Amino acid sequence: MKRRIGILTSGGDCPGLNAVIRGVAKAAYQRMNEVEIVGIVDGYSGLINGEYREMQPSDFSGILTIGGTILGTSRQPFKKMKVIENDVDKVANMKENYKKMGLDCLLILGGNGTHKTAHLLAEEGLNVIGLPKTIDNDIWGTEVTFGFHTAVDIATEAIDRIHTTAASHGRVMIVELMGNKAGWLTLYAGIAGGSDIILLPELPFDMDKVIEAVVKRAHDGKAFSIIAVAEGAMDKKEAALKKKERLRLRQENGEHTISQRIVNAIAHTTGMESRLVVPGHLQRGGSPSAYDRVLSTQFGVFAAELVEKEQYGVSVALLNDQVVANPLSEVAGKTKLVPADHRLIKCAKRAGISFGD
Ligand code: F6P
Repeated sequence: MKRRIGILTSGGDCPGLNAVIRGVAKAAYQRMNEVEIVGIVDGYSGLINGEYREMQPSDFSGILTIGGTILGTSRQPFKKMKVIENDVDKVANMKENYKKMGLDCLLILGGNGTHKTAHLLAEEGLNVIGLPKTIDNDIWGTEVTFGFHTAVDIATEAIDRIHTTAASHGRVMIVELMGNKAGWLTLYAGIAGGSDIILLPELPFDMDKVIEAVVKRAHDGKAFSIIAVAEGAMDKKEAALKKKERLRLRQENGEHTISQRIVNAIAHTTGMESRLVVPGHLQRGGSPSAYDRVLSTQFGVFAAELVEKEQYGVSVALLNDQVVANPLSEVAGKTKLVPADHRLIKCAKRAGISFGD
């Protein structure tokens, strides 16, 4: 059976993208007798502009352990997909280029925004399969996204290293981790790294409670504290404001991020030495962990099987330890946030970790 498969990677990169691409290719070459794989360059921008490469089997060798994406990626916001810019009708171009490339289907590796556009393309009649990529782990319908566990490992190591220097100096160290809407990465790495306080976007915190927790530790003889904070966390006062207003107030106070606010509040209120560490894109770089290599390989192989069965309009997911396909219509437009009553939050609280609430 002949299949011409397009693959694109879109949005922020993460470890495991190449491992998924390799899983797709190895299984496709193995299972179907005539397979051509087309690599679309730099995500949706390549599909819009007709930039692609004819891939060879050798392109997929030696990439299991390599971070980033061999295809390149870009951010193309969903809200602008239907907007005509510089006379370019992006949706029409994508449909036309899909046809011109002679594709039977398109495999799209990406996060929430990417899945919204994938769903749009499916509604426009393209044969689309989504694959859930993001260090944020916030795609609806899958227990885990590829890239997440590698980021947890990296963030945990960052906290571990901060721990020793925090203890030596008796300082309060704030480690800001990625995650604007969802706090999964901060929750997992915070627990794994033995943080004393964990602050998530889903649980607005009380600054006084955070300070109280730090002071209590000092009174109990622990001169240092580790605070793991998600970049999208906010205190209760900020949570009551609109995003624009919140950002304006932060700007006015010269505290552009929540972590900066926390560092200042602790230093001013307690006089304790505080420092901020932002690992940033380190969390997205480098080789995937063993867990992510296994997960990505499973996802890629499963996607090739879907192509063989011509089962499109779906996104690959892990559910109850089984790889399954969810309808794109159910996945697109939803975000999997950390529920306030999540078992890990309950467990962390019982272990004495404060969430500042
Ligand atoms: O969605 C993944 C993510 O790493 C978020 O955690 C983070 O807020 C964002 O991407 C950063 O995006 P960029 O790489 O475009 O700065």
